[in-house]
Amino acid sequence: MLKALIMSDLHLDINEELLGRSVTSEFINWLSRKSCDVFIIAGDLAGEALDAIELVERIQAETNKDVYFIAGNHDVWVPEDNKENSWNSYDLMYNHPSYINKPIKLGGHTVIGDMGWYDYSLGLQHVPQIKFKEEKKHIWKDAFYARWEMDDEDVLNKMLKNWRVDLEKYKDNPVMFINHFIPYKEFLTWLPDDDKMNFCQAYMGSNRIGQLVDRYQNVDYVVFGHTHKRHGVVEHHGKKVICQPFGYVHNWVGNNFVEELDKSSVMIDL
Ligand SMILES: [Fe+2]
Repeated sequence: MLKALIMSDLHLDINEELLGRSVTSEFINWLSRKSCDVFIIAGDLAGEALDAIELVERIQAETNKDVYFIAGNHDVWVPEDNKENSWNSYDLMYNHPSYINKPIKLGGHTVIGDMGWYDYSLGLQHVPQIKFKEEKKHIWKDAFYARWEMDDEDVLNKMLKNWRVDLEKYKDNPVMFINHFIPYKEFLTWLPDDDKMNFCQAYMGSNRIGQLVDRYQNVDYVVFGHTHKRHGVVEHHGKKVICQPFGYVHNWVGNNFVEELDKSSVMIDL
């Protein structure tokens, strides 16, 4: 048995700006006190790949815990004046020994995962799919900073292709599946007076991720973030779904950094 502490969407860069102080040391002190063997981050640790890697390495060195992570959309952002595309950022993380790309054995579970992406399948059903592609540059920052040089759907297709192989290979093992994006429509956030946010649910995930994972009864944990709405650990389609993002300061329930870390972290036995 192995104790795993799971978090997502720490956004340490943005939260440092919002709080007006460096919080990385506070975070590391907090994690050091936790009685977990491994720490797993479901994306959006920082604002670009090198920062995410630096943080992963620092957390691992200073807490003495094994750290595993996947990329979130913010981790693959590339500044506008940088000529490289997001695949360079993705590859940097993908090739890091702590990145979850190949199945990893943790305790009695095999962890299968990767960044994931969105394909507009969770978007408003009455809106033609092409609209989500056309409007993205007006309302969603990934259009500028997450540059794939291919359609969003094709980015997700690459992830799905690898997951199909991995899930099939480990269909007789207990599996924890982890990606950054929402796999089930029930975890979207619809607001009665916010047409823009409702439109942007198209960029939150894909029901194809959930449909794939649901084919495997041996997947007993499904972990994701991206939404900043906390759902906790929920039984859904016979699986334990973990969606408990840290989020930005203004998404918090309270205003105390350490208390919020406690509220948004989930400890499980693997
Ligand atoms: Fe995200």
